[in-house]
Amino acid sequence: MSAAQVLPATTSVGGAIYLRNVDIHFGDGNTAVQALRGIELNVAPGELVSVLGPSGCGKSTIIGAVAGFTRVSSGSLLVDGQEVRAPGPDRGVVFQQHTLFPWKTVLENVEFGLKMRRVGRAERRRAATEILEHVGLAEFRAHYPHQLSGGMQQRVNLARVLVNRPRVMLMDEPFCSLDAQTRLQMQRMLLELWHELHMTIVFVTHDVDEAVFLSDRVIVLSPRPGRVKAELAIELPRPRRVELLTSQGFMSLKRQALELLLEDPAAVI
Ligand SMILES: Nc1ncnc2c1ncn2[C@@H]1O[C@H](COP(=O)(O)OP(=O)(O)O)[C@@H](O)[C@H]1O
Ligand SMILES: [Mg+2]
Repeated sequence: MSAAQVLPATTSVGGAIYLRNVDIHFGDGNTAVQALRGIELNVAPGELVSVLGPSGCGKSTIIGAVAGFTRVSSGSLLVDGQEVRAPGPDRGVVFQQHTLFPWKTVLENVEFGLKMRRVGRAERRRAATEILEHVGLAEFRAHYPHQLSGGMQQRVNLARVLVNRPRVMLMDEPFCSLDAQTRLQMQRMLLELWHELHMTIVFVTHDVDEAVFLSDRVIVLSPRPGRVKAELAIELPRPRRVELLTSQGFMSLKRQALELLLEDPAAVI
C-alpha cells in the first residue's frame, strides 16, 4: 500500500511557489553582501524544479527564503498565495548533511516531527513505519544513525521530512557527499517518492547531470548576486530511467546547461 493512501492526502494540492523581483542582502556597511537580485521564479504545484548555479550564487539563500529561515529584503515571496514569514510543516528542508539525532533510533528520528506537533503515539508510529517502508529502511527502524551508511542516513533524513507530508520539499545539494552509485540510487528513489507523494520539489545542485536527470525545469543562476539567467525545460520522458543518461536528448540538454554555466568566467562550479 502506498503512503499516499494511508497518510492524510494533504499534499495532493498546493505547493505553488512564487518569487517576484526578490532581492536578498546580508549584513550592512562594509560587510554588506547582495546574495540575490531580482529573482523571478514560479514553481507550479507538483513540479520538480532544479536550481543550478556556481558556488556562492545564492542557491542556498533561495532555499532558506522559501523555507522561511531568511526574510527577503524586497520583492514578494508567496507559497500557496501566503507570504512566507516563518518556517512551517508545509515546507520540508533536506540539507547535504543529515540533521538526525545521534542518540535516537531511526524510528524515533522519523517520529520526532510528529511528536513535536503532538500527533498521538500510535498514529506517529504508524506514519513513521509507513514512510520508512517507502525509503526501504523498515528493517533498520531500531538502528542508530551511526550504524548506517551515508546513503541510508540520507534516506532516514528524507523520511524524517516526508513524514510531515510537506507540500513543498526544499532540497539543498542533498546527495552531494554520496558516492556516484549511491547518488544515482537516491535520485531514482526521490523520483519514485515524488511520483507517489505528489509534492513540489525545489532541488538545488551544482551538478548538471543531476539537475537534468531529475527535473521538469532547470533554472540557471548567474554568479553573485544571483539572478535567473536562463531556464531550460527538460522534456525528457518519465519515468526517468538510467539509460536516459546516455541518450542524445539528455546529452543535448546537458550541453546547453553546461554552456550557460560556463559562459560566466567568474563561475566556479
Ligand atoms: N547569513 C549570511 N550572512 C552573510 N552572507 C551570507 C549569508 N548567507 C549567505 N551569504 C553570502 O551570500 C552569497 C550566496 O550564498 P549561498 O546562498 O550560500 O550560495 P550557494 O548556495 O549558491 O553556494 C555568498 O556570497 C555568501 O557568502
Ligand atoms: Mg549552498
